[in-house]
Amino acid sequence: MSENQIAMKEAAGRAAVDALVKSGMKIGLGTGSTAVFATRRVGELLAQGVLRDISAFPTSFQTEIECENLGIPWYSLNSHKLSGSLDLTIDGADEVSPENFLTKGGGGALLIEKIAAYASASYAIAVDESKLAGALGLSFPVPVEIVNEARLTATKAIEKLGAAAKLREGIRKAGPVITDNGNLILDLTFSSPVKPDEVELLLNQIPGVVENGFFTRKRPVVFIARRDGTVEVRS
Ligand code: 5RP
Repeated sequence: MSENQIAMKEAAGRAAVDALVKSGMKIGLGTGSTAVFATRRVGELLAQGVLRDISAFPTSFQTEIECENLGIPWYSLNSHKLSGSLDLTIDGADEVSPENFLTKGGGGALLIEKIAAYASASYAIAVDESKLAGALGLSFPVPVEIVNEARLTATKAIEKLGAAAKLREGIRKAGPVITDNGNLILDLTFSSPVKPDEVELLLNQIPGVVENGFFTRKRPVVFIARRDGTVEVRS
């Protein structure tokens, strides 16, 4: 990743926090190399006393560790503190369509990320401009989290929907990636444009599918960092 792209991710993550996070909020904190800058900004503002009384819900082991290291108070979504709802979630994305539909899960955290997104009153996505796409699912793969026993049956059902499915392999780990929830991931590439809002529902009807990486039911405000150093806000 180039220095410039890292700088764009940081600018987008910080801009989302600065614009939207207020003291007293219950916030979902996303996963990945952009969302981590949002988490760090929250930690920084808490340490400075600019923000107070933040209750965070981390969407992955990665983010939980980051919260712990930064001293950001974090809780289960089932805790009395959060009681199953959030004021705001800030996350990254792999692709953003012109209508702000998303592909997420490049980091394998799609299941908990979607639970957070759909439990949030407000939803914000921070991206650099390389994530903008005309259509979803054609170049960046759409992940589908499945239970192990459905590896072949889900693959066949997915192929009938017009996508090629590839089991995600681990790096520095033999065999498949195991998610934070103990499941496997199939990465889907579609051969022609699809309607993400329809396919999001269809994929979840396949037995053994736990969740998929199309996010269409909670329309986010998108913070897009541009190469020239500006951050555009698109609703
Ligand atoms: C993780 C995600 C990430 O938000 C997505 O992959 C974008 O990551 P990055 O900001 O590192 O490009 O969905 O499951």
